[in-house]
Amino acid sequence: ARVGVLISGRGSNMIALAEAAERPTCPYEIALVAANDPDAPGLARARMMGIETWGLSHAGMKRAAFDALIDAELRRAGAEYVALAGYMRLLSPEFVERWAGRMINIHPSLLPAYKGLDTHARAIAAGDAESGCSVHVVTAGLDDGPVFASARVPIKPGDTPDSLAARILVEEHRLYPQALAEFVTRVAPRS
Ligand code: GRF
Repeated sequence: ARVGVLISGRGSNMIALAEAAERPTCPYEIALVAANDPDAPGLARARMMGIETWGLSHAGMKRAAFDALIDAELRRAGAEYVALAGYMRLLSPEFVERWAGRMINIHPSLLPAYKGLDTHARAIAAGDAESGCSVHVVTAGLDDGPVFASARVPIKPGDTPDSLAARILVEEHRLYPQALAEFVTRVAPRS
């Protein structure tokens, strides 16, 4: 199965997906890593792994027009699924519709709790005993859509947003490759 990965920044989840894809038993391969920032550090890391990349700033472009460019690149690369990995921009309804049921995202909270930004600070401020990460099918709403897989971690006394984020990130890197492998196995590709 060919997967296009969208990133905006460091791309550590993308790397976790790409490293898992190098195992012979992995049911997916990374067809393309695309970013809305040509200088996203993750793009350089993907290129070092021999993965095709595409990066362009969305500045000054209408959302739907920019997303149409990404979609064209994904098709050209033969992508059948899309995995969002720290793609920090809402996608247009047209793009979401085009990839409906074939696109997943990872979010650092136990959804449906704490959609959006600053998840770790919000979980700590609420006095929650645990947090985690969720992989969900992407629908039009921000961090919305059916949860496909999740992992829990404890929130410990003295945790800061950074310490909690680091604990959750370890789980993200474990969960996302597993969830993507299961997703492409269970869901038919976009033709
Ligand atoms: C991760 O915490 C992910 O859950 C969230 O954005 C962050 C991206 O980190 N959606 P990275 O770029 O994968 O390192």
